[in-house]
Amino acid sequence: MANFCSVSQAVDLLLSGGIVALPTETVYGLGADATNESAVAKIFEAKNRPAFDPLIVHVPSIDAVKEIAELDERAEALLLAFSPGPLTVVLKKKNIIPDLVTSGHPTVAVRIPGHPVMLEVLNKSGLFIAAPSANPFGYTSPTTAGHVADQLGDKIDGIVDGGPCQVGVESTIVDLSGEQPKVLRLGGMALEQLELVLGAALPVQTSSSKPNAPGMLSAHYNPGAKVILVESADEIPKDLGSECAVLVFGEVRMLHSQQYNLSPTGDFQEAARNLFKLLRSLGKRYTKIFAVKLPEVSLGRAVNDRLKRASVTS
Ligand code: TXA
Ligand code: MG
Repeated sequence: MANFCSVSQAVDLLLSGGIVALPTETVYGLGADATNESAVAKIFEAKNRPAFDPLIVHVPSIDAVKEIAELDERAEALLLAFSPGPLTVVLKKKNIIPDLVTSGHPTVAVRIPGHPVMLEVLNKSGLFIAAPSANPFGYTSPTTAGHVADQLGDKIDGIVDGGPCQVGVESTIVDLSGEQPKVLRLGGMALEQLELVLGAALPVQTSSSKPNAPGMLSAHYNPGAKVILVESADEIPKDLGSECAVLVFGEVRMLHSQQYNLSPTGDFQEAARNLFKLLRSLGKRYTKIFAVKLPEVSLGRAVNDRLKRASVTS
């Protein structure tokens, strides 16, 4: 049974080494005190997450970033421009963060989340909170407290319900630990905006199953149905059975009776917000989902990335 709790109960649970699902503006996270190794170990266990996949540490301010990582000018510029928000930066870590959190890497992924409830938990607890998305490893990320309760309710100490997530896809991850900044995960912060602040093109290096690109496994986001990603609606067979759904974006005429639209007006933010919710519900009702790619701009990139990973089955 899921244990829904208040902010102050969540703070108490976290301070005593518990694991609690918390709302962020991107997706729900499964939080623990990042400096408490046994609490962090519980996250890996509850999610069935491999130990080689490091966690993001959430902090309330740029000052707090400096307590756990080496902040350089580029990182500070990005955080000043976009935090709190759907941006994670990978920086050289300080000793306060245990190796378990970073899977032994000398770097730590840090984020200042924008959700008021998450910020309240951070401020009231005074903790740095390690939190991966609150889903079992390999499955679709949760964008409501109900999604968390369905998938992890009996494995965790509490869930704080902060309403549906406004961004809907995970944060964009920028690796700033080396000479050349690079994007490790496309997400809720558009690449174009990051490039404006950095004043240069940002290489994107997202897909890999190599351990040195942690967590960027190609198979991920399994919604419970087979996802087939197509470039255009013309590639979808005309006579679809009742087992198949079609996922489209923008002003598209009704081509199939089981057609669902991520954003009929072609709004990328709305599409990102709807993505996981829709995939989850279609995954329960259909066995196959034909998804038409979005234009590769703005948050369309992150949506395509998630659809592509959902379409990889092994
Ligand atoms: O929006 C988000 O980022 C959500 C919310 C809860 O904040 N969190 C999230 O965490 O998506 P998770 O664990 O599902 O994804 C974090 C990704 C993983 O792919 C992990 O491999 C990568 O961040 N990561 C963490 N630490 C890293 C590091 N030091 N170097 C490179 N990648 C890292
Ligand atoms: Mg995740």
